[in-house]
Amino acid sequence: MSTRFLLLSTIAHCIICAVFAFEPSPLQDFCIADSTSSTRVNGQACKSPSSVGAADFSFSGLHIPGNTSNPNGSRVSPVNVAQLHRLNTLSISMVRIDYAPWGINPPHTHPRATEILTVIEGSLQVGFVTSNPENRLIMKTLQKGDVFVFPIRLIHFQRNVGTKNAVAIAALSSQNPGVITIANAVFGSKPDISSDILTKAFQIEPSLVHNLQAKF
Ligand SMILES: *[C@@H]1O[C@H](CO)[C@@H](O)[C@H](O)[C@H]1NC(C)=O
Ligand SMILES: *[C@@H]1O[C@H](CO)[C@@H](O)[C@H](O)[C@H]1NC(C)=O
Repeated sequence: MSTRFLLLSTIAHCIICAVFAFEPSPLQDFCIADSTSSTRVNGQACKSPSSVGAADFSFSGLHIPGNTSNPNGSRVSPVNVAQLHRLNTLSISMVRIDYAPWGINPPHTHPRATEILTVIEGSLQVGFVTSNPENRLIMKTLQKGDVFVFPIRLIHFQRNVGTKNAVAIAALSSQNPGVITIANAVFGSKPDISSDILTKAFQIEPSLVHNLQAKF
């Protein structure tokens, strides 16, 4: 094999890696998700195009405030492929987030999406943390109309720093971004991660681990 061939094949391989690291481009105008199909693909099986109508392309209700009476003081109302079947294979989705005064959207990550958020009511403190070893916190207070980006997979959060309710709209670069809420995943896994692991990992007393496991 010539060096040139090796070089070209390495480049081709890298291009293929880059393409497959993200959701593939659609191969047809639309592939409305058929949530009743048992076919397992990366995404969801397509409905027959002839049975598709306007209802498959629309969603109503994001004007309705979410109920924030919960320990977080926030509520995420998603519009992803589960709510809007048209999003299947389109690498995009949306959420509305409501925050009570001082409510938080707790530290979490989206395993499959970058998020771009804008404040449409109130003011929010937002932040994310870079990966090891820096673990740098990048934070900003946003006012109505400000936009902030949370890079894919990094741990991020929001907090309402106003005395009134706050509302944000965010778009995510996946039809099914997924969410891993750190506290719930670490202290609320089923079954529990054994407490001696968490005691060492967080350098805290076993009683505190049990307390957190009971909460989540
Ligand atoms: C909001 O949620 C709380 C707690 O689950 C519930 O008690 C309350 O009735 C809900 N409020 C509305 C308007 O649905
Ligand atoms: C807080 O919000 C997250 C993300 O929506 C949710 O997974 C979690 O259960 C909530 N925690 C509590 C204590 O309500």
